Amino acid sequence: MTAPLDLDFVRAQFPALDQPIALLDNAGGSAPARQVIARVTEHMERRPVQLGASYALSREASAAVDAGRRAAEALVGAREGEVVLGQSTTTNIAMIASALAGGWGPGDAVVVSDLEHESNRGPWRRLAARGVEVREWRMRTETAQLHPGDLEPLLDDRVRLVAFTHCSNVVGAVHDVARVCARVRKAGALSMVDGVAFAPHRLVDVDALGCDFYALSLYKTFGPHLGLLFGRAEVLRRARGQNHFFIGEDEVPYKLEPGNVPYELCASLVGIVDYFEALDRRHGGPASATARERVVAAYRLIADAEAQLAAPLLRFLRDDSRVHLLGPQEGGARVPTVAFHLADGRPAGTIVPALDDCGLAVRCGHFYAHRAILRLGLLKREGVLRASLAHYNSSAEVERLIEALDELL
Ligand SMILES: Cc1ncc(COP(=O)(O)O)c(C=O)c1O
Repeated sequence: MTAPLDLDFVRAQFPALDQPIALLDNAGGSAPARQVIARVTEHMERRPVQLGASYALSREASAAVDAGRRAAEALVGAREGEVVLGQSTTTNIAMIASALAGGWGPGDAVVVSDLEHESNRGPWRRLAARGVEVREWRMRTETAQLHPGDLEPLLDDRVRLVAFTHCSNVVGAVHDVARVCARVRKAGALSMVDGVAFAPHRLVDVDALGCDFYALSLYKTFGPHLGLLFGRAEVLRRARGQNHFFIGEDEVPYKLEPGNVPYELCASLVGIVDYFEALDRRHGGPASATARERVVAAYRLIADAEAQLAAPLLRFLRDDSRVHLLGPQEGGARVPTVAFHLADGRPAGTIVPALDDCGLAVRCGHFYAHRAILRLGLLKREGVLRASLAHYNSSAEVERLIEALDELL
């Protein structure tokens, strides 16, 4: 157990929290750290120039953007050149599907889970139009989770790639990604892991996971509106360039970043590590450490704080017979993204306007995990209610939510 989180310090790093609304919709988008905002502003004020020229300001801008790339790599434990940046996870996965699948057709297969946010389903399912067989790894509805044993019969030597989620943005359950990736690799296929709902809460270590691709959205991880796609160096090199014809196949990641990255947003990624450094130092971390060490230390603090924060909400939703909590009923195997539906069958939206009026930012819907919510039989009931906490939320905010639910259910 680490030192308790200094919540006043933490909240002071997020200007958006200084408002009379409890932001409990963090799986939709997190507040950006003030260090990120400062770096966007600094870049736009000082270096509004094109990269790659020889004049001093262009060199400075190139260095700032490169520093952002190094920060993005540190965030997931990648090596230089293994991170592709794009507008969002949706665009990144669509891009890499097109880069990988150029030569795939009849005789090839992909496996796609039905628990995914659609961004990790659609691009793979669309390969069916060119003859690729699409196999579905179905979650078990009683747990709303993927079980590795169910993947087994879907794997054979035709499978090129398996797309699945580290953690559902609705259910919040964490899957054993390392185990699945090892199995997928043994079957001779690539793994594409959606880590969007995991990365704001727990440390991502792409080496330990053994994945080929790992996607996360930086705007849900205290940063700007960008998507980060990790790809193993050797696989990225093989992927077909999606940029102009004169950008070489060895120019990774640029060959996969058509139109380039928004420079000020890329430069601002250093601000995420700056925030993690401030957090670590505030809680007794050493004066000097590598960026990756700061990331590791910060996630330790975040995970512990979130476990305590979410416990009363999970207890309330598990024990109250007026609601059904999806996924793990205890904290250990989940992140604090908590979805539930009303036991009496009323639509999920029934109580949302009253929660809005209480200044509690939660919402209902299918959250683009359309297929999963359909299979759970909840689409016709306006999906599920979801409260998604971040480490910067307070126990008082969670308490307010519990009290409001208790009154409105
Ligand atoms: C689990 C998950 N995957 C993928 C996405 C898509 O991310 P983006 O908005 O960056 O395209 C989301 C967005 O909510 C998500 O929650």
